[in-house]
Amino acid sequence: MSDRYTTDRDATNKETVYTASNGAPYPHAYGAQRAGNNGPLLLQDYHLIDLLAHFDRERIPERVVHAKGSGAHGEWECTADAQDLCLADFFKQGTKCPLTLRFSTVGGESGSSDNARDPRGFAVKFKTSQGNWDWVGNNTPIFFLRDPAKFPHFIHTQKRDPATHLGGGDDATMFWDYISNNPESVHQIMYLMGDRGIPDGFRQMNGYYGHTLKIVNAKGEWVYAQFHLLSNQGVVNQTDPVATAKNSPDHGQKDLYYSIEEGKFPSWTMKVQTMTAKQAEEAWANKGINVFDLTHIWPHKDYPLREIGKVTLNKNAKNYFAEVEQAAFSPSHMIPGVEPSADPVLQSRLFSYPDTHRHRLGTNYQQLPVNQPHPAYKMANFQRDGAMAYYNQGGRANYISTLDPIQFKPRYVDVDNVHGHFQAEAIAFLSTIRPEDFNAPRALWEKVFDDAGRKRFIETVSGHMSTVRDKEIIARQIAIFREVSEDLASRLEKATGVKGGPGIKGVVFNGSNNGMDKSKPLAANS
Ligand code: HEM
Repeated sequence: MSDRYTTDRDATNKETVYTASNGAPYPHAYGAQRAGNNGPLLLQDYHLIDLLAHFDRERIPERVVHAKGSGAHGEWECTADAQDLCLADFFKQGTKCPLTLRFSTVGGESGSSDNARDPRGFAVKFKTSQGNWDWVGNNTPIFFLRDPAKFPHFIHTQKRDPATHLGGGDDATMFWDYISNNPESVHQIMYLMGDRGIPDGFRQMNGYYGHTLKIVNAKGEWVYAQFHLLSNQGVVNQTDPVATAKNSPDHGQKDLYYSIEEGKFPSWTMKVQTMTAKQAEEAWANKGINVFDLTHIWPHKDYPLREIGKVTLNKNAKNYFAEVEQAAFSPSHMIPGVEPSADPVLQSRLFSYPDTHRHRLGTNYQQLPVNQPHPAYKMANFQRDGAMAYYNQGGRANYISTLDPIQFKPRYVDVDNVHGHFQAEAIAFLSTIRPEDFNAPRALWEKVFDDAGRKRFIETVSGHMSTVRDKEIIARQIAIFREVSEDLASRLEKATGVKGGPGIKGVVFNGSNNGMDKSKPLAANS
């Protein structure tokens, strides 16, 4: 661990001296100054007042999502040069850099269980020689939505009911009410309710960037890219009864911490899929694949995975709060050669994460040791002051000065009009449900799940739906599942005792335009 994490905490007790927070020695940690032997306390007792006042402020807001997590430090190594794709030093063979990685569940509070049936967050801060590159992905390559305005609505249905204060375990009504009105979620729901819904700890799962990025090489040529981190421990999941039997809400944390303590360093292989702009237009025209649609994947057979390097975790945090809780990951933390695509969910996240960090950690969150960039050059800008500014850039001018000019380095930015056209088309499309939305879920049901897996899926979904208060919600969701598979829908009808609709033609959703219903004109923005 570098020196910036070491404090007097690392000194032995013999070397340290007990002080008040101003550094002055204080005779004992207990005791209060009072008037006489049994009188009231004195306002002059800075030691006690400061102790209590600091304690009163120990909690910072937990993350609004992904509040329960585990993290560790490690290293990136580029094992196969990819600078033909991207100019960043990160992609040069042999490049190494330190990193911090945080895993999480999504919906639960900070004290909730690691064994929840929930996607897992997979966030990495690569401290590269050209600044920090953050990945803020999940253990699934897809997501519940492709319209960012839905995110707060969706997340509210994962949290406690505003009236009953009950969570999803006791009342799944809100959950299925949302899902059954937003059929583009069905692919992610099939993952979540299937055998891959509860990873066994954090080491034995993959990580996916999820969104399409654009990467640019030194010639200014760019491709769309999908990044994957594949677990070298293999992928191992739990079924519900096993997860319950483990009965340890901190199973993931324990497993990760002790593996690293014992020198069993977990690692992941980074791979990338790419498409040129032309290939993306063709994918859209011929296969209905929209590179800006987070609910779909790029088939591996058409867009093969290319290996780039390795992520290894080899160091536990010495102080969880300082090194994991205060870590601030954001998709907007990119390096030269890596650019956002026009995916509207990614675009919105570029705003949302720094915004929440300013609220959760303060305006100078980038100065916290775990977040501080350590580029190969001296870093400078004109951000100054604000609460807790402890790296305030000294006496250098705080405006662009001709007396003491600062150096600027060029960065590649896409200004391609052809791409702009494609972008507009893709965004307009995103709120409409189309037949292709059911292809991947159907493949999951028919080809990926085996008989036992299908049976467990029905048990999981019908069990989960057992607390849904309105049967119409269940009927609507069964109609969505019927577009995936008649077999799936009829088995679920039997298990729930609710008759579902014949399919979604004619169904009016409150969250999505129904593009399956050709007889009806679509809403203006479809
Ligand atoms: C955490 C917003 C979609 C993965 C968070 C946080 C916010 C947020 C506000 C808390 C961050 C913090 O306090 O540090 C959003 C919004 C989304 C969105 C507005 C869509 C419009 C996604 C997607 C993924 C994702 C699509 C995965 C591909 C994560 C992860 C974390 C997180 C992994 C935890 C990061 C950590 O460990 O600190 N999100 N999110 N989110 N989000 Fe999202």
